[in-house]
Amino acid sequence: MNKIGIDDLDVKNKKVFLRVDFNVPLNDNQAIVDTTRIDRTLPTIKSLLDRGAKLAIASHLGRPERADVKFSLAPVARYLANILDKKVRFSSTIHGDSAKLAVNSLAAGECLLFENLRFFPEETKNDPEFSKKIASNFDLYVNDAFGASHRKHASTYGVAECFKDAAAGYLLHKELSYLGQAVTNPKRPFIVILGGAKVRDKIKVVFNLISKTDIILIGGGMAYSFLHVQGKEIGKSILDRDSLKIIEKTLKFAEAEHKKIMLPVDHKVASNINANIDEVKVVKDIPADLIAFDIGPLTTEAYSNEIANASQVLWNGPMGVFEKPVFSLGTLSIAKAMQDCRGTTIVGGGDSILAINQAKVGASLSHISTGGGASLEFLEGRNLPGVEVLTDKR
Ligand code: 3PG
Repeated sequence: MNKIGIDDLDVKNKKVFLRVDFNVPLNDNQAIVDTTRIDRTLPTIKSLLDRGAKLAIASHLGRPERADVKFSLAPVARYLANILDKKVRFSSTIHGDSAKLAVNSLAAGECLLFENLRFFPEETKNDPEFSKKIASNFDLYVNDAFGASHRKHASTYGVAECFKDAAAGYLLHKELSYLGQAVTNPKRPFIVILGGAKVRDKIKVVFNLISKTDIILIGGGMAYSFLHVQGKEIGKSILDRDSLKIIEKTLKFAEAEHKKIMLPVDHKVASNINANIDEVKVVKDIPADLIAFDIGPLTTEAYSNEIANASQVLWNGPMGVFEKPVFSLGTLSIAKAMQDCRGTTIVGGGDSILAINQAKVGASLSHISTGGGASLEFLEGRNLPGVEVLTDKR
């Protein structure tokens, strides 16, 4: 990578703004369900603290449009203090007098965590005034938020632009090196498995990945928009009407390129997401009044067979609503198939990491990426704004 890293910075006694991706899953009691994304930034945090930085850490969590206690980073501050075994102050605002005071009162080797960046609407708008206000409290900028580096937001882009020295953290560097190899020289057959609830984001990705991969396996919410385009009954399953044209184009392009896009051939359906096991049915044809919440056993078997023969597999997004045990089998079976695959196995995205950890197969995989959308956009060959903006090596 031609960008400066934290080892190129003299951080002693410097006020450092560190953007991380602590967008971790929380349960209804605000407890962190999976700490992978936090744990993976510890080398960067520890290195900066050990070298005497006055460190302020910032992240988003979820997609709130204004302050909302459900999306508070306070539980993350507590976890971080515990794992670092040191005090982590918590600042509820990122600019203004109280933020300035919080940053200025840090001694060398001390740190604080700011409240969720997305509590400020200026963040996702990459508002230049907001960026300047944040940057004015710091000497150096570091980005270790690989998972958010595809976003051109204030903290990932605008703030970095305000610094002479904007450096990559260790995690960002590691992710780009690993995924860079996977995309420039993929081992074939290269299979991509896509699922999850962020339907709109991922549908476009499928089109762009066709020329890079050999087979794309689709599950989760987005599969039903594809099946709808193919004229199949999808009942009341999730449908993204705005994406139907791009799906049609995608299917035609895949055919012209002789690339296989596989869709679920059977489904677990119910009338609602809270259905109990007796109310769930496995069907090939979805009844008009029911909703598909997971892939069925025939699909699982077909997808697992493809994964077994792959030389490189990238998985992003669960196959169904796997947080509900009755709809978790499809996703957990794909996790198991990844474990059994002898090729290079890469998993990306918060939900997929959670599934991998639930299935206890993480240790057998080649690379667990903390980036969901970011890893996909990188593999598509797109520039990541959060990386582009960093300072080039001199
Ligand atoms: C992710 O979970 O992929 C990253 O944290 C980015 O989150 P976003 O899609 O809400 O920007």
